Amino acid sequence: MYLMEHDGEGERMEKRDLDEAARHLTLAGIRAGDRVLDAGCASGLLSRMIARMAAPGAVFGIDASADRIAMAARRAREENIRNLAFQQADIYRLPFAGGVFDVAFSRYTFEYLTNPEAALQEMKRVVRPGGRVVVADLDGNGLFHYPIPA
Ligand SMILES: C[S@@+](CC[C@H](N)C(=O)[O-])C[C@H]1O[C@@H](n2cnc3c(N)ncnc32)[C@H](O)[C@@H]1O
Repeated sequence: MYLMEHDGEGERMEKRDLDEAARHLTLAGIRAGDRVLDAGCASGLLSRMIARMAAPGAVFGIDASADRIAMAARRAREENIRNLAFQQADIYRLPFAGGVFDVAFSRYTFEYLTNPEAALQEMKRVVRPGGRVVVADLDGNGLFHYPIPA
């Protein structure tokens, strides 16, 4: 059985496929110097990868779960990543002024949202004109093949 709110979920997130994550981030086109939002960052695994790609740009991870945000902040501290900050927040009410990000990114989070269109609008609000909103998720049938075929 899969439970998003299970105590071990943060640790499970840390075991995600790094090659697949790197491919997704390359597709997202994150560049050095970008200021990036990672919405639904969970334990911050991708946030840390983004921070390395976007340096010297800054990365902000938000998640609804206080436990996961605490874990994300701890991991970033342990890895001494300085251009990365985390905050517990709702994707529908992002704690940022409009137009402050070059890229707003979200992976594997929209599948849990009851109003994904509203979340998309909120992500768009915090991105500068000409910036990018990137959402990666499972397809409409909820099918997921593991291991992922080449
Ligand atoms: C599967 S995890 C995301 C994993 C991570 N982005 C990755 O790619 O490895 C989904 C996350 O969405 C978060 N979440 C669900 N609803 C949310 C909301 N309304 N606002 C912010 N985060 C939310 C959950 O707390 C959970 O940590």
